[in-house]
Amino acid sequence: MFMVTMKVFIFLLLLGIQGAAAVTHSLKYFYTASSQVPNFPEFVIVGMVDDVHIEYYDSDTEKMVPKQDWVNGAVDPQFWERNAGIAVGAQQVYKANIEILKPRFNQTGGAHIVQRMYGCEWDEETGDMSGYMQDGYDGEDFISFDLK
Ligand SMILES: *[C@@H]1O[C@H](CO)[C@@H](O)[C@H](O)[C@H]1NC(C)=O
Repeated sequence: MFMVTMKVFIFLLLLGIQGAAAVTHSLKYFYTASSQVPNFPEFVIVGMVDDVHIEYYDSDTEKMVPKQDWVNGAVDPQFWERNAGIAVGAQQVYKANIEILKPRFNQTGGAHIVQRMYGCEWDEETGDMSGYMQDGYDGEDFISFDLK
């Protein structure tokens, strides 16, 4: 009897969590710039909506590409070329940033990574919105922006 009740309870709990998650939407971008990391592009951008991978850019191809079919229908025809151009610009800045950070940390070589994570969340029911931006260097938080 207890087990059945417990299962029903857990089931309802899971439904509740899914229901709560469905009204909050998110847009997330991850920038990763690296230096001397083997077999990994020097600059990568990953974009996600509601934790689904929607777009990708890397320095090997210098192309921004959709990762879901529906994304193409949601943007204008010049979107990919325009944003690839912006990404090429960001790539220069991020690669330069690694070279600026290295001497500040007394580093002369080796593998180093600069990351930026930014995005926003929107609660469909309450209309609440929030945004964030965080930078990291070699896996440690470096600076973050507080929208509030
Ligand atoms: C870098 O080296 C200098 C000289 O040894 C030292 O004063 C400084 O604290 C070092 N900086 C870092 C971030 O370790």
